[in-house]
Amino acid sequence: EYKLPIGVNIDLETGVIPGAKKLVRRLSNLKGYFQDEDAYNELLKEDPVVYEVYAVEQEEKDGDLNFATTVLYPGKVGKEFFFTKGHFHAKADRAEIYYGIKGKGGMLLQTPEGKAEWIPMGPGTVVYVPPYWAHRTVNTSDEPFIFLAIYPADAGHDYGSIAEKGFSKLVIEENGEVKVIDNPRWKE
Ligand code: 6PG
Ligand code: NI
Repeated sequence: EYKLPIGVNIDLETGVIPGAKKLVRRLSNLKGYFQDEDAYNELLKEDPVVYEVYAVEQEEKDGDLNFATTVLYPGKVGKEFFFTKGHFHAKADRAEIYYGIKGKGGMLLQTPEGKAEWIPMGPGTVVYVPPYWAHRTVNTSDEPFIFLAIYPADAGHDYGSIAEKGFSKLVIEENGEVKVIDNPRWKE
């Protein structure tokens, strides 16, 4: 009745976890997420893969843990760097740990009231996502940004409010620089 332990090697170049469940998110899966709709529709003709997730997940039970790598490709929609959808956990008090493997980017975090924080990430960076904070990763470089996430098996994903309202901050490139600016469309 005991589950067996698992040991796997993450391919540190590609982010692939052997035997993991693979999820692919293309630009068309991110409709309404980016500010610049013209740039979005233009790039939609190619419909590039924005990110892939390799997840090793358990039954949604209290006390158990999941882990997953994400490979977030480089790219921009207008001035905005490619990002993951971003979510609160369905059980909002569930925390999470991220570990940077390859490439460069960062994490936007946000409270339910819209207070946002930006944490730059690179290989070796550990990010603690506290309970109740929504989280989205952003690739600010021109190579894939790869990281590991470890999260409670019963955390779940709540995409709704981020899909509707977005984050109160945007991560953009301006004059060749990475900037974290206020989202002009943000409403309390
Ligand atoms: C999780 C993690 C992480 C995340 C992926 C894709 O809770 O499972 O935060 O694995 O799901 O990086 O990001 P989105 O789930 O926001 O699309
Ligand atoms: Ni999460």
